[in-house]
Amino acid sequence: MKILVINGPNLNMLGIREPGIYGYSTYNDLVNMISDFCERNGIEVKCLQSNHEGDLVDYIQQAYFDKVDGIVINPGAYTHTSVALLDALKAVSVPAVEVHISQVSEREDFRQKSYVSLYCSRTIMGKGFDGYIEAIRFLNTKM
Ligand code: DQA
Repeated sequence: MKILVINGPNLNMLGIREPGIYGYSTYNDLVNMISDFCERNGIEVKCLQSNHEGDLVDYIQQAYFDKVDGIVINPGAYTHTSVALLDALKAVSVPAVEVHISQVSEREDFRQKSYVSLYCSRTIMGKGFDGYIEAIRFLNTKM
């Protein structure tokens, strides 16, 4: 079982950015939590983050060539704008789950549209970092 976790723009700023919404834990804390969980459960995992939309497209495409079994993706603000990320997911056809740390459904109107959700088999939001673990568990049981 091989999982790729992709985080989009500003998620490298976790712990600094709007802690009232995203908490005080850092991106490194998130990666450590995911890595520990995967190690304990015999899951191979790679965590990637970029602030650039094209990089995120490249990561999704690479998942196909690396024979990744599942993608966990938090596209950050690109959730609400990016047809390119949706097309990339459709292109590779790898099972994917969308994760948001915050409860996006209770936030601004402009956050209510998610392009990647049109592809992802599930959207998990408002559960903080635990949402990533829930997404990995979901993909793991689906395999
Ligand atoms: C986010 C929610 C998005 O609306 C926002 O742009 C982010 C983070 C979340 O994890 O809650 O950058 O994806």
